[in-house]
Amino acid sequence: MKITNDIIYVGVNDHDVDLFEGHYIVPEGMAYNSYVIKDGKTAVMDSVDAHFADEWIGKVKEAAGSPDYFIVQHMEPDHSGSIKEFMKAFPETTIVSSQKAFNMMANFFEGESYEDRRLVVKEGDTLEIGSHTLTFVTAPMVHWPEVIMTYDAKDKVLFSADAFGRFGALDVIGETNEEDDDWACEARRYYFGIVGKYGIQTQAVLKKAAGLDIKIICALHGPVLVKDLGYHLGLYDTWSKYEPESQGVVIAYTSVYGNTKKAVEMLAEKLEAKGVPEVVVTDLARSDMAEAVEDAFRYDTVVFATTTFNNGIFPFMREFIESLTERSFQNKRVAFIENGSWAPQAAKVMKGMLEGSKNMTYCDNDLRILSALNDESRAKLEALAEELAAAYK
Ligand code: FEO
Repeated sequence: MKITNDIIYVGVNDHDVDLFEGHYIVPEGMAYNSYVIKDGKTAVMDSVDAHFADEWIGKVKEAAGSPDYFIVQHMEPDHSGSIKEFMKAFPETTIVSSQKAFNMMANFFEGESYEDRRLVVKEGDTLEIGSHTLTFVTAPMVHWPEVIMTYDAKDKVLFSADAFGRFGALDVIGETNEEDDDWACEARRYYFGIVGKYGIQTQAVLKKAAGLDIKIICALHGPVLVKDLGYHLGLYDTWSKYEPESQGVVIAYTSVYGNTKKAVEMLAEKLEAKGVPEVVVTDLARSDMAEAVEDAFRYDTVVFATTTFNNGIFPFMREFIESLTERSFQNKRVAFIENGSWAPQAAKVMKGMLEGSKNMTYCDNDLRILSALNDESRAKLEALAEELAAAYK
């Protein structure tokens, strides 16, 4: 794929990965993007996962011959995995990266950090390769500390490392966002799963990006963004400020024998009947946890429903809440449903786990179920539904 007259896509698609980053299901596969910039001199942007080294190096040779510069923006192995093979295949190439990335290279590659073939760059440094001048922008913790992004002022392209990435192989989702009609869904799951903890750092990068004239974003995953950049930048702004993106209630639950589930289903029906814009119900034991996390960050209200278990809460709910709080969960309206047959305390435990979350509004009508719903708890459930729905009227 030719992105501009001088910029060529040389990335690869992975349909074999079972869990991306050892963690995330990727039903549409995964892309490891890499780019060649051809000018008086030639630069290659990032490598790919080690399993695709030969395929990628073949593409680089075809597009660039023998490149002059190899720019490494990020050292996570989905991008750094083929660096060694590249440096062997192209012995004349200079590797360009941040000092922190070279330190990581030594750790990954048994002391090898290419001291005699390298150019260390920092914030604001530039590299002229002919008519293109590349400016390096540091982006610490988006998503590792060594990350740099690269701006090409001639074609107005931001090479954004992991930022603006999305799960999905490009031969499934499309090579550019002109073909990809569902970018936000898998970009959101990717963002909150992988970068979500680092909202402050993402905001810092967005502020730097605001000072650049950007026409195209080339991320390390997902399609090349060639249109509607305001939409994509706007979503990143919302996500990294931890602002709710959509109005609606997520009900995340666990249920052992179906009694908590029955209450959750009844609540969902009532909320829909009362006109709540969207109601999303997630069984945490049987759903993709990353999708549940994404939804909890997306919507303005979350109902946590679980059983008391081992004097605490059911394990899938514990994992869910920990996945939220370790990603700086905040700015939500929250309600609890607890179930317990002799000493219910799940609501207290869940509220305690959310103690450090900022700007939370707790509903007045939390629901306690003693084993199974009865007339009294059904009346309380109605009161909770009324309270939740009132906010959207
Ligand atoms: Fe795509 Fe942080 O690696």
